Amino acid sequence: MTAQHASARPARRLGTDRFLFGGDYNPEQWPEEVWAQDVALMRRAGVNAATVGVFSWALLEPSEGTYDFGWLDRVLATLHEGGIGVVLATPTASPPPWFTRAHPDAMPVDADGRSLVHGSRDTYAVSAPAYRDACRAIAGELAARYGDHPALIAWHVHNEYGTLDHGEHAAAAFRRWLRRRYGTLEELNRRWYTAFWSQGYSSWEDVLPPRRTQYLANPTHALDFKRFSSDEMLDALREQRDVIRATGSPAPVTTNFMLPSWNHLEQWGWSAELDLVSVDHYLDTTGPDGETHAAYGGDLTRSWAGGGPWLLMEQSSTSSSLPGRRAHKEPDRVVRNSLSYVARGSQGALFFQWRAPLAGSEAWHGGIVPHAGAESRSFRGFEQLGRVLESIAEVAGAPADGPLVLADVAVVWHAEGWWATDTHQLPSDDLDYSATVRAAHRALWQEGFAVDFVAPDADLSRYRLVLVPSMFALGDAAVERLRAHVSGGGHLAVWPFTGYADEHLHVVPGGYPGRLRDLLGVRVEELHPLGAGEQVVLEYGDGELTGTVWSEVVDLDGAEVVARYRGGELDGAPAVTRCATGRGVAHYASTFLVEDSLRRWLRGLCAQAGVSPVVEGCPPLVEVVRRRGARADYLFVLNHSAAAVRVTGPGHDLTTGSEADAGLDVAARGWAVLRIRDGAAPWRVAPAG
Ligand code: GLA
Repeated sequence: MTAQHASARPARRLGTDRFLFGGDYNPEQWPEEVWAQDVALMRRAGVNAATVGVFSWALLEPSEGTYDFGWLDRVLATLHEGGIGVVLATPTASPPPWFTRAHPDAMPVDADGRSLVHGSRDTYAVSAPAYRDACRAIAGELAARYGDHPALIAWHVHNEYGTLDHGEHAAAAFRRWLRRRYGTLEELNRRWYTAFWSQGYSSWEDVLPPRRTQYLANPTHALDFKRFSSDEMLDALREQRDVIRATGSPAPVTTNFMLPSWNHLEQWGWSAELDLVSVDHYLDTTGPDGETHAAYGGDLTRSWAGGGPWLLMEQSSTSSSLPGRRAHKEPDRVVRNSLSYVARGSQGALFFQWRAPLAGSEAWHGGIVPHAGAESRSFRGFEQLGRVLESIAEVAGAPADGPLVLADVAVVWHAEGWWATDTHQLPSDDLDYSATVRAAHRALWQEGFAVDFVAPDADLSRYRLVLVPSMFALGDAAVERLRAHVSGGGHLAVWPFTGYADEHLHVVPGGYPGRLRDLLGVRVEELHPLGAGEQVVLEYGDGELTGTVWSEVVDLDGAEVVARYRGGELDGAPAVTRCATGRGVAHYASTFLVEDSLRRWLRGLCAQAGVSPVVEGCPPLVEVVRRRGARADYLFVLNHSAAAVRVTGPGHDLTTGSEADAGLDVAARGWAVLRIRDGAAPWRVAPAG
């Protein structure tokens, strides 16, 4: 695992102090006469940034080694004349058809052994030397030509790294990676537990990427392949970054993470290699849960960025054609979602995409300019967003030190937790890393707490309460950090099926959760996973809690009981515990609490740990985030509810020019961004009227 490198970020900063507003711009899909109209419309909406060239490889290099930059020169000049900055991409996510013909060996192979070809995008074998050479070449050409272009704001390397390859190049690179990791085949055999099912390797040549096999695959093999793939893609990123830096271009280098519904990158380590962390985030649901999802994306990315700032590189504009993410966004939601990301440290709100295309695979993915054109309700909504972002321009400055958002509670997040849970040969089919972490964050959002995410092996001393909702496998460094957190006086809360194995997925014997048993003061002999839809009831104070997916037989070994199972096979047995160690407390829930129960439990833990909401007593669906700035702190009030609220406190609303001292009404589905005059004075948010 890689520790969080809050201070490792290099000095290259965005070439602007303004919030960026705009998005992916694909002028190559349109006749040149449209470009001038685009710039006029961008100016009308207040757009100041366009991400260019993401999928332009076939135009930029129509045949191997032959470049045509004329059109891109004209695009950049047109944008620059219009005052629009450029986030310039390297086009390496989509090699052109000639590349397949020239380098058939550089095509990716899936786990079934099928070689893929061009015709879509992301079709390359990342370990293939020909692909890597071609990437360095085109990145170098672009950097040499545009590295000091006055319109350039940032370099956008590649697009959403994440294509896994199971072919021969990957096999060779995987073996090199494994030799570095384990040194000898004996060690690999031990760590992969190959004594099981006669899997012992006697030659490195026999070690392959995980490919389709007869029955269940080796889980440690699968996890190591994920680790390797992330490292391999990171090497590819570094090569392009270094080629760009070598030209002397002062612009920061980023690559856009895909905020995961799938996840192939170890983002803590990747973030430390970037000048600027950026992310693409598409809401996975309509309704209020969409707001919690936006908050999740913002908090996670700010944390990857060491406390920020970071950049929202893509969000859907009005609608998306992505399966499961087709939610339509009303104009007011576009503003509130954008402010939610900005409040959490984004240096802007960029969208996919500027103009909705008329054909192609994403013809039904909305744009800032929809198919209907700029004379439309949605475009007027974007004009409004432009005005809002302009009005809050002063918020963009960063404080002299420390993070942009101060949080006392942190949720442990690590890609390896996800990959480990995805090995799937586990005691329950319903263990879901992403859903579990998201549920923890959602409950804290609903209760109004500011939240960070942390790597398990990060320094946790800044936090009063640390939650570990799902880390089935824990390495030594992580265990030490959690232990130090509690002995230093912190509170720790652990969900079931956490710390049951080491980082090689070997179960720690002697009772679960082996790695955390002494810290939590519990010992579990037997697991009782629940069937689909089955729930357990827990006695908790004078009320009850409800759990799902999981239960287990908890023996106390230093901990005290906070809640007991009621009814069923575990009637009367400990279900939720707390264990005081030194000055801190380690809490354990032996079942996955459902939403309301989780909120109650966490509310209690926050109170015990001395964690307060940003503003006490906010009405439901009113989100309040405090972002620190260069000259002041700012309170973002996002009213997702259907009723107006009144905000009272010492502040000035930048979006309307009104004062909030005597109360300021924020309309249903509206917003306010308040410059705080007195940092210590209390704020109140209550129903209006
Ligand atoms: C991703 C990609 C974009 C586009 C959008 C569509 O985020 O980066 O190129 O395909 O998805 O949803």
